Amino acid sequence: MKAPRGRVTKDGIRIYEQADFAGMQAAGKVAATILDEIAEHVFPGQTTGEIDRIITEKVDESGSKSATIGYKGYQHASCISVNHVVCHGIPGDKRLKDGDILNIDVTVIVDGWYGDTSRMYVAGNIGRKAERLVQVTHDALFKGIEAVKPGNTFGDIGHAIQSYVEGHRMSVVRDFCGHGLGQVFHAPPNVLHYGRAGTGPVLEEGMFFTIEPMVNIGRPETKVLADDWTAVTRDKSLSAQFEHSIGVTADGFEIFTLSPGGKFHPTWS
Ligand code: MF3
Ligand code: CO
Ligand code: CO
Repeated sequence: MKAPRGRVTKDGIRIYEQADFAGMQAAGKVAATILDEIAEHVFPGQTTGEIDRIITEKVDESGSKSATIGYKGYQHASCISVNHVVCHGIPGDKRLKDGDILNIDVTVIVDGWYGDTSRMYVAGNIGRKAERLVQVTHDALFKGIEAVKPGNTFGDIGHAIQSYVEGHRMSVVRDFCGHGLGQVFHAPPNVLHYGRAGTGPVLEEGMFFTIEPMVNIGRPETKVLADDWTAVTRDKSLSAQFEHSIGVTADGFEIFTLSPGGKFHPTWS
């Protein structure tokens, strides 16, 4: 294997080179395109297992590889987290009902580069509370992304997200975080979605990572079910999540997983 280029900071964060952005753009585009194309397959009566089967097919057709199949024993090309499932929901036989909200999370590998993105979908018609949760979570991700530029810190990202979410009387999940990625799936740093401004590692041009806030209508606590994957809210309240893979540029950020069809937000239609 070729040795990875670039250097690593004292916090263990890899600094990628200008040429590496192209690898992330290609991987991000494949993942985002699959999420665009899956939208029409989300409807009441559909099973999450069938959605995952279609995603698996699309990963194959794209010539990419699923990063999640075989990852720590996980067996699916997506995580599908419905209603009070916070993340890592396992696709299965359960049928979606009218008004269900769900996060679909896909990670692909293209020429060795990882593209990781997730977004919310709605089966049928969304209720008012769920709509507010989805909107606040979406906007919280972008508050975090807008804090990305060289010289700011990871704490600035977390603070931007937490203050926005709590200002809307909702809560940020603490038990899961974003992560560095690039030529690996999960690398330093842990990208916390809460925190204090000015704390944590300083952002530098060439860092690649995800921001993927999970927001609950109720309390922030989660628990993992007996399947060892499915994380749910302890109080059974609704949860939402959006995720982008991004890179730090000289004067800000680049989003690698932008929706080619402008369908990132579920009310695109
Ligand atoms: N894509 C998830 C993330 O955002 C990780 C899923 S790992 C799996 O980091 F094994 F559950 F698929
Ligand atoms: Co991720
Ligand atoms: Co993901």
